[in-house]
Amino acid sequence: METYVTLPKWLDNYIYNELGAKYCRSNADMTVIDWDKTDILNYLGTYFPRSYAEACCITGDYFSHNIPSFMTKESLSLLDFGCGTGGEIVGIISQLKDHNENLKNVSICALDGNFHALRLCESVLRKTSEKIGVKIEINPIPITIEDFYDMSVLECVLSTPFDIIISFKAICEFVTKERFEKDNAYRHIINTLMPKLVQEGIMLLVDVTSYSDISKEWLPRMMDAGIDQVQYSIVHKNEGYNQTIYVTHSYKKNDKSKVAWRMITHKK
Ligand SMILES: C[S@@+](CC[C@H](N)C(=O)[O-])C[C@H]1O[C@@H](n2cnc3c(N)ncnc32)[C@H](O)[C@@H]1O
Repeated sequence: METYVTLPKWLDNYIYNELGAKYCRSNADMTVIDWDKTDILNYLGTYFPRSYAEACCITGDYFSHNIPSFMTKESLSLLDFGCGTGGEIVGIISQLKDHNENLKNVSICALDGNFHALRLCESVLRKTSEKIGVKIEINPIPITIEDFYDMSVLECVLSTPFDIIISFKAICEFVTKERFEKDNAYRHIINTLMPKLVQEGIMLLVDVTSYSDISKEWLPRMMDAGIDQVQYSIVHKNEGYNQTIYVTHSYKKNDKSKVAWRMITHKK
């Protein structure tokens, strides 16, 4: 299934004209954690719109056919693991607002080890709050998860249960850097974060579809192998091997993104 999204005018204007984002595709290995300010402005102009579009398509479609109990609440909480510049957060909040007219407040825990990305994410979310009329409380978590130990510290400090937990195109970097040695990074992250999800909540994992030279496996296969080993269930996923999503903005018409995604809940 192919889907098409256009970046809203206000968001397009804000990232390119006010924040200085640039459209510049990178062929290098995407370990964004190490990128400097210039690289992150390229990320904002190139990959932020894709993440926005991916989140709009996936959650928009889901909320059109399903009404999770949190969809009727005035206040919601969301954790983004590896939020980067936060395109997916803007996409999800816009869909939550479109499908729940009662929505007034969203509390976001935004974890990322790249400070430049996290700062831009905060700016974008402040603007989003102003433009879509939802109060967004941002709790940045500026930490780099180096290993199992850091993940266990995170497990202890994250106390609030979340309605939604997401991770977009970040776990691939944990695989590349072997943060959890030879363990399946998807399984380890799911097992650490799912106990932080409310009973009726959803976890959405989205990732690139490439072959990892480090784990010697296709990432979507690795994601499925990780999910097979946990006690949680997939309630929704892309059809076939991946989903193609096109996004249009002032620097590129129909920019193509291919992702694999799985939505997970507590239900067995
Ligand atoms: C490819 S970017 C994706 C960003 C965002 N989720 C999106 O879809 O646009 C991956 C993000 O994960 C973050 N990240 C990678 N490894 C990390 C680690 N070990 N600890 C914290 N953040 C990490 C990077 O800094 C980067 O912002």
